[in-house]
Amino acid sequence: MREILLMSNNWYYNKEYQEGMEKSGSLKGFEKVNLPHTNVELPYNYFNEEDFQIVSCYKYPLDLKEEYKDRIVYVHFEGVMAYAKVYLNGEFIGEHKGGYTPFDIRIDPYYDWSSSNNILTVVVDSSERSDIPPFGGQIDYLTYGGIYRDVSLGVYDDIFISNIKIETPDVLEDKKKVHVKVWVDNINSHTCDLDFEIKINEYQGEEVYKGSFKGSIEETKKTFEFDIDNLEGIKLWDIDNPNLYEMSVTVTGGDFSDEYRDRFGFRKAEFTPKGFFLNGKHVKIRGLNRHQAFPYVGYAMPKRVQEKDADILKNDLHLNLVRTSHYPQSKHFLNKCDEIGLLVFEEIPGWQHIGDDEWKEVVKQNVEEMIVRDWNHPSIILWGVRINESQDDDELYTATNAIARSLDSTRQTGGVRYITGSNMLEDVYTMNDFIHDGVRGPLRKQQEVTGLDHDVPYMVTEYNGHMYPTKRFDQEERQMEHSLRHLRVQNASYLDDSISGAIGWVAFDYNTHKDFGAGDRICYHGVMDMFRIHKFAAYAYKSQVSPEVEPVLQPVTFWTRGERSIGGVLPLVIFTNCDYIDFQYGDFEPIRKIYPDRQTYAGIPYPPVVIDLSVLDEKMLGLWGMKWEDAVIRGYYKGEVVIEKRFTKAPVPTELYVEADDTELVSTQKDATRIVVKILDQCGNILPFIDDIIKIKVDGPARVQGPSEVVVKGGAVGFWIETVNEPGVVNIEITSSVLGKKKITINVK
Ligand code: GAL
Repeated sequence: MREILLMSNNWYYNKEYQEGMEKSGSLKGFEKVNLPHTNVELPYNYFNEEDFQIVSCYKYPLDLKEEYKDRIVYVHFEGVMAYAKVYLNGEFIGEHKGGYTPFDIRIDPYYDWSSSNNILTVVVDSSERSDIPPFGGQIDYLTYGGIYRDVSLGVYDDIFISNIKIETPDVLEDKKKVHVKVWVDNINSHTCDLDFEIKINEYQGEEVYKGSFKGSIEETKKTFEFDIDNLEGIKLWDIDNPNLYEMSVTVTGGDFSDEYRDRFGFRKAEFTPKGFFLNGKHVKIRGLNRHQAFPYVGYAMPKRVQEKDADILKNDLHLNLVRTSHYPQSKHFLNKCDEIGLLVFEEIPGWQHIGDDEWKEVVKQNVEEMIVRDWNHPSIILWGVRINESQDDDELYTATNAIARSLDSTRQTGGVRYITGSNMLEDVYTMNDFIHDGVRGPLRKQQEVTGLDHDVPYMVTEYNGHMYPTKRFDQEERQMEHSLRHLRVQNASYLDDSISGAIGWVAFDYNTHKDFGAGDRICYHGVMDMFRIHKFAAYAYKSQVSPEVEPVLQPVTFWTRGERSIGGVLPLVIFTNCDYIDFQYGDFEPIRKIYPDRQTYAGIPYPPVVIDLSVLDEKMLGLWGMKWEDAVIRGYYKGEVVIEKRFTKAPVPTELYVEADDTELVSTQKDATRIVVKILDQCGNILPFIDDIIKIKVDGPARVQGPSEVVVKGGAVGFWIETVNEPGVVNIEITSSVLGKKKITINVK
């Protein structure tokens, strides 16, 4: 039976690899680190992106239990950026190209059982090597470096299961079926009969199936296929009810045995020329792209923070899909998408550039590694098998499509382009339609893009982004236009049944190369900033949910007379899902029942309310030179006030708002949580232009990622606290130069 041991703690790291280091057992000059680890912690912005493009060295002393002596032992790496060479006791035992997909290296043949100090060495090349995608051209993001995902040790019998694939055919029939493929490794080519036992449980619940199957083996690798049918009472997986099941497959042969578990869901996902259908029901896709990057530590964020991103996208922004632009992302992120019902479009690594034949081989390998890692996730509904925004390369993309289809016939393929009339080798034409520049219409008709004379399954995979970069602390008018561009494209997508949906660029601001972004190595393209704090545009998405789930009311304004050109706050766009709103200015009689603008935004579920001179008299707010007053906006649902927003005429710093996403963390492996700090006025609104300095003092077994003194930008800032392998109480003191101190306590278990 297998044993899986997490080996993410107690690595030794040397930033400067020197020739021969892999041969030596010495740990001199190495610092102790835990995974996920970034090779170089970066400043927030204005850094040299070559700083992390280095070759570094990681070491891990292994002292395996005597009882593992006759067993098969693998080290499983979930992600090492970008090229890893692995050695055991100085002997080269394997390598891997590509930073986004996992790899296994067998170590037992090289293990020295007479020593209690076997040294595993990983030499990590994090340079942008032109033989590995996405490298070779320019790329608008950073790939960071290091062993930035977890590593584990797998100890197996001679016969073990290397993977399973769970398919759920004809899922809309009453009685459900499951088709299971099981890959069995038989390392020493034993000839024996095999007994399989398969169990299916509701995830964390009742058993729904148990059955036995027979087989036999003599080859070193063999695939078995089993059919289970007539399952009753099975619940479908969907966006609102993400019912998950867990399968356990046990194999026994001679003295050997193994058990493999994975989660799955019963669901049918289909892109058609008339849109996207989940379990036969039409769903308009409303999504955003996500980069897996964070300030300071780049990609190296642990499970909890990966999960939090999925949570923000689904439960805060109320999206139904995320595109993992432009590479396979953390398993923790995907697992969370399964759990909360967030659909995923996952794609291979790449950005515009296509390299030589050797490079293309890595592309094909990436397709395979992505699919075999992730094929049981019910949330994943489409494989992206093109290099994002590359030119047509029929030979390469015929091959990537063929690999995807042969590995997984249950999902359609897509491949993101920005060129029109591209050869449709995939099942879904996935297009970055950046047409909307504020003047030209929000989206093109699909046949204008595809050049075909008939409709095909079609989805818009990016819009906005570099067409209108917007900072959270940009001027109000710009932020309004930014928000409305997101809304207009979504609205157009809803109005065109031949478009399965639209996925905006992008969820969060991200660090990038000097050739992109605002010159400070940040692309301010997010609807949230790098700390995942909302810009106004976030509310264009957030408001598209029933008020039963959450009432939303967010006016796009800092509420002041002189922030906009010529002054005033009109037109005042209010993102809301309320039936109507009341608006009160100073002592004026409130204007009652202002309804959402369904005429302009006929497509989206919840159009905004727009207050302009058709709603209120010019004299009410008055002109430059007149007094400015307080305001109250109330949102109604089913005749009742469900949400209220107040604005003060004379904001001053009033509250130091400090909130941690979590107050309990674990010490057994690296863990982290975000803390958001805001400077609020008397009404709880952010003071967008305050220049405050925040000092962070951490007392106890944790450290702050990045600097411990930060400036508040646009009235708010965030940071992450990470654990250091020790339990205890962590007291965090946050001092604002204007509002004094606040304390927060986190328990590390
Ligand atoms: C696209 C690209 C994205 C990002 C975006 C900015 O062309 O696919 O990665 O660079 O532009 O708008």
